[in-house]
Amino acid sequence: MYKLILIILSCLWGNAQGVEKDLGTGLIIAPGWELVRMHCGACHSYKLVTAQRADKEGWRSMIQWMQETQNLWEFDEVTENGILNYLSNSYPPQANRRRAPIAKNLMPTM
Ligand code: HEC
Repeated sequence: MYKLILIILSCLWGNAQGVEKDLGTGLIIAPGWELVRMHCGACHSYKLVTAQRADKEGWRSMIQWMQETQNLWEFDEVTENGILNYLSNSYPPQANRRRAPIAKNLMPTM
């Protein structure tokens, strides 16, 4: 029950921030999201995708790694660009995921 409330709250929170998510996959709805729904859910949960953050090059190298070692199929250039643009726009690196460094005056004295 609590879980359900949390899920509903997090959906509302997401909407409050202007981010619309697909209920089935959890993917942020933005140009190209259907490509990712089509190509990125066959082998693992979409959660693995939505939990990851990277710039375009980072996403490219993850996809290449899956293509080289995990039997992920090849994409034509248009499809690959659509996927990479979507991923790097919707799941970009987040500088603020790390806390700010501790201020000097709050550090233990040596
Ligand atoms: C053919 C199967 C397959 C498909 C399709 C696939 N993946 Fe993967 N992917 C894998 C495997 C296998 C792993 C490793 C899973 C694990 O570690 O449990 C993985 C891992 C990942 C990870 C975690 C990488 C890390 O370093 O933590 C991400 C992110 C990811 N995939 C994104 C995608 C995206 C985006 C797509 C669509 C372009 C996609 N996957 C499509 C097989 C696939």
